[in-house]
Amino acid sequence: MGDVIFNILRYDPDSGKGPQFETFRVPYEKKDLTVLDGLFYIVEKLDGSLAFRSSCRSGVCGSCAMHINGKHRLACNTQIASLRTQEITIRPLAHVEVEKDLCVDMDLFWEKYELVRPYLVPGSPPPEKERVQSQEDREELNVVIDCIQCASCYSACPVTLTSEEYIGPAALLKIDRFVRDSRDGAHIQRIEQADGPYGAWRCHNVFACQCCPKELDPPRSIAHIKRRLLRKRLLGGEK
Ligand code: SF4
Ligand code: FES
Repeated sequence: MGDVIFNILRYDPDSGKGPQFETFRVPYEKKDLTVLDGLFYIVEKLDGSLAFRSSCRSGVCGSCAMHINGKHRLACNTQIASLRTQEITIRPLAHVEVEKDLCVDMDLFWEKYELVRPYLVPGSPPPEKERVQSQEDREELNVVIDCIQCASCYSACPVTLTSEEYIGPAALLKIDRFVRDSRDGAHIQRIEQADGPYGAWRCHNVFACQCCPKELDPPRSIAHIKRRLLRKRLLGGEK
């Protein structure tokens, strides 16, 4: 099967040099070789200074998100075969500071994420056993529950680039996730937070965040929030 060519955008802020591509050849020895396998081959056999993040290696931790052949993808669940080429170009996530090579500074992303209280805020005292949810209510969450905080949508959004305060698509999707949750007791506060100057209205409907490796749809969540906000303004109620 020959070699796979990895063109990787490398940058070390301490080196005094600007970002530049470096090319590596990785043997294509197994059909299910992933981009992450290739990066590990490079770091173990060719250049130990290459920096990238990964943890779970199974598409659930979100730490290996990067820009691979023109799309946001998770390196661990992107098989080379699926790219239909043996030449791969990898860049770090955009609109965030590069710490080194493919490692980016996620602090601002996490700050905004924490701002929206990404956990259940129950509206009633703890029940004896558990907070029961109907099948129907649980299904309401299907379209928002799988976010792994990979920051691909955040990195793709041009508004996060121009407005540092904008909370961004992932945080708005998280607001939507809890606003849809029948067990949550903070719907009103969450919706009001999205109404703030750096909330949902900052979104300019560019749809660049429609790039989620988990196939979630942040623009749909933002539209859902905006609809609720409009209803609240027009009808005075929360829903
Ligand atoms: Fe990543 Fe998708 Fe969550 Fe955005 S919505 S942070 S792209 S998993
Ligand atoms: Fe966890 Fe890729 S290593 S999502």
